[in-house]
Amino acid sequence: MTEFRCLLVKPLQPDAPPGSPTELVLTTQPAEALPPGEVTIQVSHSSLNYKDAMASRGHPGVVKRLPHIPGIDAAGVVLESSAPQVNAGDPVLVTGYDLGQGHWGGWSELIRVPATWVVPLPPTLSARQAMSLGTAGFTAAQSVLALQQHDVLPGSGPVVVTGATGGVGSLAVRMLAQLGYEVTAITGKAEQHAALRQAGASQIMSRHDIQLNAHKPLLSAQWAGGIDTVGGDLLPWLLRGCQYGGCVTACGLVAGSDLAMSVYPFLLRGVSLCGIASADCPRERRERIWQLLSQAWKLEDTDSWVTDVDWQELPHQIERMLDGQVVGRTVLHTG
Ligand SMILES: NC(=O)c1ccc[n+]([C@@H]2O[C@H](COP(=O)([O-])OP(=O)(O)OC[C@H]3O[C@@H](n4cnc5c(N)ncnc54)[C@H](OP(=O)(O)O)[C@@H]3O)[C@@H](O)[C@H]2O)c1
Repeated sequence: MTEFRCLLVKPLQPDAPPGSPTELVLTTQPAEALPPGEVTIQVSHSSLNYKDAMASRGHPGVVKRLPHIPGIDAAGVVLESSAPQVNAGDPVLVTGYDLGQGHWGGWSELIRVPATWVVPLPPTLSARQAMSLGTAGFTAAQSVLALQQHDVLPGSGPVVVTGATGGVGSLAVRMLAQLGYEVTAITGKAEQHAALRQAGASQIMSRHDIQLNAHKPLLSAQWAGGIDTVGGDLLPWLLRGCQYGGCVTACGLVAGSDLAMSVYPFLLRGVSLCGIASADCPRERRERIWQLLSQAWKLEDTDSWVTDVDWQELPHQIERMLDGQVVGRTVLHTG
């Protein structure tokens, strides 16, 4: 392949300074423009994560230089490899590291990456299934694993998931319910309550109706733990309402990046706040997570939570994500 199709973010005005307005265009690039790396992959599927939506707007917190190809997830088949552990023809996936941030990403027919980023596609997952999980599924699984490691187990009591209809949130609800947890889903979408019950949530709360009582250092101890995907006011609300020994994982910031609370939940109830960082997850844990996602924690019924899009349909889905309207996961078919 001498050239490849991709969605490219470029400045509206050539030579504009960082942070200036950008546009996202469907275009072709010559293969020699790909970044350096030992492995070239023909991408069949990618996905849409919140970070990709920000990258599509040239957000300087995500995109390091322009022009740029977003897409922090990719799955496909190896075209060429100079690394002994990866062979041409291998079905593979890449999530995180610098893909789609400092390095051209998966919204592309081709990616070229370091061999250390490449994970064999688990035999029980198709490329589409792997991308229906992507970084969101990987992050949900990391969060569930962290709760288990802090002894928040099925039977410990109700576990809250915020941003419950989003990519990470919706997969966390499904994983927890499948593992036997009692799940309370918090959502801003009134029309999605029935779907969340179907996904396994036993209680649904509207995020607009939550009494934050922000002045109180502690709230009544209701929750065994939580998976927070939004930050803002909900993360401290959740921590202040945890039972003794509870644990809350934090991975997201769609509602804000500041953490406004006292230390009382940590000092008086032994509550843990556990950070989740998927991009640089070490290799051994990364492979363990993909093993769980493809075997013991494998989610079925993919069609009920995945929206499949092509090149032309992705920009509209990006708008909807930035407006908080996307439900579940979006898979981009690049082939
Ligand atoms: N740390 C990591 O390694 C890591 C990995 C993956 C993702 N993330 C982060 O996790 C977050 C979620 O990512 P995602 O890909 O799942 O995004 P997403 O699909 O857009 O989901 C975010 C969800 O948050 C809720 N939401 C939107 N605006 C909100 C607001 N103003 N206040 C409260 N809730 C709001 C919505 O769900 P409801 O309508 O149901 O409330 C929305 O669907 C992002 O911040 C992302 O950057 C971090």
